[in-house]
Amino acid sequence: MKKQNIVVVGATGIVGRTLVRILEERRFPVDRLILVAGRRSVGKELPFRGENAGVAGLSEDVFDGADLAFFCAGGDVSGEWIPRVRERCRLVVDLSSVFRMVPDVPLVVPEVNGGDIGAFGSNVIANPNCSTVPLVMVLKPLHETFTVRRVTVSTYQAVSGAGQEGIDQLERELRGGETGPMKFPHPIADNCLPHVDVFLEDGYTKEEHKVINEVRKILHDDSIRVAPTCVRVPVRNCHSESVNIEFENPVSLGEVRELLASSPGVVVRDDPGRGLYPLARIASGKDEVFVGRLRSDPSVEHGIALWIVSDNLRKGAGTNAVQIAEHWMERDR
Ligand SMILES: NC(=O)c1ccc[n+]([C@@H]2O[C@H](COP(=O)([O-])OP(=O)(O)OC[C@H]3O[C@@H](n4cnc5c(N)ncnc54)[C@H](OP(=O)(O)O)[C@@H]3O)[C@@H](O)[C@H]2O)c1
Repeated sequence: MKKQNIVVVGATGIVGRTLVRILEERRFPVDRLILVAGRRSVGKELPFRGENAGVAGLSEDVFDGADLAFFCAGGDVSGEWIPRVRERCRLVVDLSSVFRMVPDVPLVVPEVNGGDIGAFGSNVIANPNCSTVPLVMVLKPLHETFTVRRVTVSTYQAVSGAGQEGIDQLERELRGGETGPMKFPHPIADNCLPHVDVFLEDGYTKEEHKVINEVRKILHDDSIRVAPTCVRVPVRNCHSESVNIEFENPVSLGEVRELLASSPGVVVRDDPGRGLYPLARIASGKDEVFVGRLRSDPSVEHGIALWIVSDNLRKGAGTNAVQIAEHWMERDR
């Protein structure tokens, strides 16, 4: 595979650092790696393949000759800089929410809709929200077989989903530090906040709207109804989700189990009698989406309930973004 010139914008952040580590772990064919961050981090060094790589500031020049640019520096940076530099790059993978719902920008989880890569004629591909990714990994095989009609999902989202400052707030509070910078609207230690991202006029949050819209775009089905409640919990890493799914057609738990167990990237961990079900501590650091607590939903005619856990920094962000690049390179060969 041809070696690529790569730019990572937001390389010092929690997603950027994870993404760089994943490039290394997956032996991604890197020729030149340019790490970019905000002003305060220029001149810092980050490890890559046994050497230290310097951190540069953001300028148009750093994208000259880039095959691939990963943007993980937040929506403001993506919104301003991707339109300015996309023509200098062969492919841009954006991890912010800014371009996700733009019609000609594919929104991709490779195991689910990898075929969308290249199908829209855009050289920007969006990485979905870190709660959407594991949800669609589970919904896709079930939708194909039983036709999903309605999904009710409550998320239990780790503080790492809000970046390094989210982890810093939880750790400070756990040490007993009551005052300091607040990433969340309330203390997060000993708390659950039904408030992720900002509230919109309909009483839902922007995060909840992302889940609704992104599920439909990725599964190519605007008829799927989604009712989300997104909650921030005092867990360092990994998002968990309690999900009820209603189908158009009769469903058997045996078939659900088989379909999920044979889906790439999904691991069924479901033996509650022995205390086996997905847990954040087990999923952290892994690329798979873990699913368990499979059971019928007695409140509807054709429905099931289940529990999903996935590493938001890896499959919800870095791993998925690198997989998008790998798929794109395969197509490009
Ligand atoms: N955390 C997750 O689970 C997750 C999952 C999926 C997607 N995402 C998305 O990934 C992006 C990064 O999130 P994060 O959690 O990694 O945040 P983070 O830990 O706060 O990191 C932010 C990064 O952006 C850099 N940055 C900030 N302003 C910049 C500027 N003007 N120019 C260049 N670089 C700048 C920061 O550099 P400094 O070192 O200079 O501050 C840092 O490297 C966001 O768009 C987020 O929505 C996050």
